[in-house]
Amino acid sequence: MAAEKWVYMVTAQTPTNIAVIKYWGKRDEVRILPVNDSISVTLDPDHLCTVTTVAVSPAFDRDRMWLNGKTKKHSCEKSVIHLVTESVSYILLIENLEISLSGSRYQNCLREIRSRGGDVEDREKGVKIEKKDWERLNLHIASHNNFPTAAGLASSAAGFACLVFSLAKLMNVEEDPSQLSAIARQGSGSACRSLFGGFVKWKMGSKDDGSDSVAVQLADEKHWDDLVIIIAVVSSRQKETSSTSGMRESVETSLLLQHRAKEVVPKRIVQMEEAIKNRDFASFTQLSCTDSNQFHAVCLDTSPPIFYMNDTSHRIISLVEKWNRSEGTPQVAYTFDAGPNAVLIARNRKVAVQLLQGLLYYFPPKSDTDMKSYVVGDNSILKEAG
Ligand code: ADP
Ligand code: DP6
Ligand code: CO
Repeated sequence: MAAEKWVYMVTAQTPTNIAVIKYWGKRDEVRILPVNDSISVTLDPDHLCTVTTVAVSPAFDRDRMWLNGKTKKHSCEKSVIHLVTESVSYILLIENLEISLSGSRYQNCLREIRSRGGDVEDREKGVKIEKKDWERLNLHIASHNNFPTAAGLASSAAGFACLVFSLAKLMNVEEDPSQLSAIARQGSGSACRSLFGGFVKWKMGSKDDGSDSVAVQLADEKHWDDLVIIIAVVSSRQKETSSTSGMRESVETSLLLQHRAKEVVPKRIVQMEEAIKNRDFASFTQLSCTDSNQFHAVCLDTSPPIFYMNDTSHRIISLVEKWNRSEGTPQVAYTFDAGPNAVLIARNRKVAVQLLQGLLYYFPPKSDTDMKSYVVGDNSILKEAG
């Protein structure tokens, strides 16, 4: 095979994660170091996820990336990357969806992974890449989120975790998931937690270089598999204030953020770890809901105030609060990221079915809205209603 002809590629799939104790605020904007620890739950990898293909070839003249292009099987038109995964071949139709890789977040991830690349040899495909080659070989990257991008469902988390993971596989990087999490963190803070399944803690760390600001797994996905996560997509529109700029404004102007980071979150982290360990749903719910509400209070305390939730979000909170009170013990926990979409965690499958019925009754999907409900059940089911 002529040296210039080969394309070597890897495809990876990474789930998103939803924080139950939120990260909101950086102490270092460049390295992406947070002002407090956070804890999240990673969703099932087959459901809300990113799929990224990274390809390398001596024929590529520069690094390029496409986001959310359409894929089409067995077509030869307009191809940019030809993928061969096992026996199926795909052509990605990705014109017009190219995004710039010039930003420091992409550059930092690419540089960190490249510098750790190892030797790769695939005799069948005629591919032989040496460690030193990674600095000069160019990449083509095609990524696709199967859920709304930049709408407050943590697309940056799944997106950057998948980018780093797929590049690490391509380049035969031997780092463990915690070390990779420190690289993904430099793409988007929340991304470091998607390198693990189950319940995950992002330790803020104390070193200036960020080497101890990594994610660790608290419990794997089997530990508490009664839980069912329902995501009510209130709006899939792109949010007006990105998480990055929203938290920057909060750090600059909100006194509540300072109090939260120093006085409130450290205690909640200890309590949440305990609740997860003991599968204590009442404490888990109390902590998740109050932490989500405090995060949105910080957004309101920001000047000018940031409104991520809308009337529908508030009505969902009221519905869940009333239900939990009427039952005497909590049945459903809620948490809202930087957007109006509700993440609802039901204590078991029976409660999840009742919750979904309630949501469909009180918030019937209309054809002219984009209200959808995704059901992610004990890490095994997903249905899309409406
Ligand atoms: P979200 O709430 O969806 O995480 P953010 O404002 O935090 O919203 O981040 C959205 C940004 O994350 C996008 O504008 C894009 O720059 C980046 N992003 C989203 N998906 C991907 C992906 N699959 N690969 C790389 N970057 C992505
Ligand atoms: C509300 O990780 O998206 O979802 O680090 O600037 O990319 P950057 O921000 P991002 O912020 C996530 C904020 C949150 C809470 C959380 O996921 O912990
Ligand atoms: Co994000």
